[in-house]
Amino acid sequence: MHDLDDYRWWQKGTIYQIYPRSFQDSNGDGIGDLGGVLQRLDYLEWLGVDALWLSPIFSSPMADFGYDISDYRAIDPRFGTMEDLDRLLDAVHARGMKLILDLVPNHTSDQHPWFREARASRDSPKRDWYLWEDPAPGGDPPNNWLSVFGGSAWEYDEATGQYYYHAFLAAQPDLNWRNPDVRTAMFDVMRFWLDKGADGFRVDVMWHLLKDERLRHNPPNPDYRPGQPEHARLVPAYSEDQYEVHTIVEQMRAVTDAYDDRVLIGEVYLPLGRLVAYYGPEGRGAHLPFNFQLILLPWEARRLDAAVNAYEGALPSNGWPNWVLSNHDKPRVASRVGPAQARVAAMLLLTLRGTPILYYGDELGMENVAIPPDRVQDPREMKEPGIGVGRDPFRTPMPWDEGPNAGFSEGIPWLPLGADYKSRNVSAQQSDPDSMLTLYRRLIALRKDEPALAVGDFVPVPAEGDVLAYDRVHGGRRLLIALNLGRQPQQMNYAGLSGRILLSTHCDREGDSAHATLRLRADEGVIVAVR
Ligand code: GLC
Ligand code: CA
Repeated sequence: MHDLDDYRWWQKGTIYQIYPRSFQDSNGDGIGDLGGVLQRLDYLEWLGVDALWLSPIFSSPMADFGYDISDYRAIDPRFGTMEDLDRLLDAVHARGMKLILDLVPNHTSDQHPWFREARASRDSPKRDWYLWEDPAPGGDPPNNWLSVFGGSAWEYDEATGQYYYHAFLAAQPDLNWRNPDVRTAMFDVMRFWLDKGADGFRVDVMWHLLKDERLRHNPPNPDYRPGQPEHARLVPAYSEDQYEVHTIVEQMRAVTDAYDDRVLIGEVYLPLGRLVAYYGPEGRGAHLPFNFQLILLPWEARRLDAAVNAYEGALPSNGWPNWVLSNHDKPRVASRVGPAQARVAAMLLLTLRGTPILYYGDELGMENVAIPPDRVQDPREMKEPGIGVGRDPFRTPMPWDEGPNAGFSEGIPWLPLGADYKSRNVSAQQSDPDSMLTLYRRLIALRKDEPALAVGDFVPVPAEGDVLAYDRVHGGRRLLIALNLGRQPQQMNYAGLSGRILLSTHCDREGDSAHATLRLRADEGVIVAVR
């Protein structure tokens, strides 16, 4: 048994992801900004989250809304100034909270001075900072690699007669991480923000950093089905997750570890076995390689039960788990599982063992917002229109109140608000004891009060059908979490159970006693303190 003090903030705390464009606009241009985040810190503190992760706020032409950076050490004027960032850091820290920045090391903007210089000539000293290749015989791209956003991943540069590689947009050329100067430059960027007091990084597409040196063709994907994004036609065996990437991750970790108490979170979309490799040998990799299973798996109790156990079993002994329900790249959980199950999902997220990472607006049960064709912003949608890969629907403005533009902006919001914002907003839900927001706040508070939830052991509990159950145990305290992922009432048998309900997703059975036969209503989850 460990004392809570033995755990770091990023283990026992809740992390909240802010998509800055959509959180709060402070100057009426319809785009959220740092001043807006600052204005809303009271809310975040009230909600009880411990750390904020900001999607990129750096200088960018916004071809991919900040994931195309033209200056890693400057704040984009649309988001504010360096002074605003300093103010935000101070204010977050003054509240005992942490601020995590987004590091995008795989690619820059094509407007970054490094790329402009690299592109200028074949002899440029920066040429080798990117991945340039001669055309294949006949003028074709060097190999068959596909962009994640569709089409070839190679862009031909007329002026210098070579192709460059871009895993995403042509406006996002990939850096050459085999070049030691690139490493040094990016590690210096990390130090710049760590020196300023940033509490760590979420590292964009960590598994993409290195590609096969021999540029071998990717094999076809036998499971490809028409209608899927073009990128899925091939298995990215040679363009992603190359084993040498782990030495880079270790170096990033070493840069981070030179500072006190910072965190390194890696974006990694890979099957379990390869995902956990990103913890690194002897835990010298990422502190938290993102675990996206709750996003990717069907919402079925037996599937999730197997996945949670497989994950617990696959973790290296010093590897700390983490869980995510939504993010700026994936549909809203409430749309995926439905509003009633979204409450069960909240209880799952905040009672599993490991750091919960909560996407802004999920605490209100925000749903995907249909975007009229003339308001589409996401280049992902524009590259492969109509197949459902656009990300605008889950990047819409946070609804704060029932006033004009939901209190998000005094101007025209860059994306439309949800049609339900007059009823689904922070102000309405804050005063409603049954609201999703109240449920989230109570779950976060309970996690703080109960070491069993924050850091306790995970013990699987046998259950059947639509019920997912587990115990969380710390010292003498045992909590049973029983979740009904179905639309029918369920009965669960837990031999010898005698306890008291601490919280129900329906916010109404607290204090009721629980017995060996535990009844769950449709779409209900409960946390039981076991005697
Ligand atoms: C990551 C980001 C995504 C972005 C892509 C390219 O997956 O989360 O939003 O488009 O990387 O940077
Ligand atoms: Ca603004």
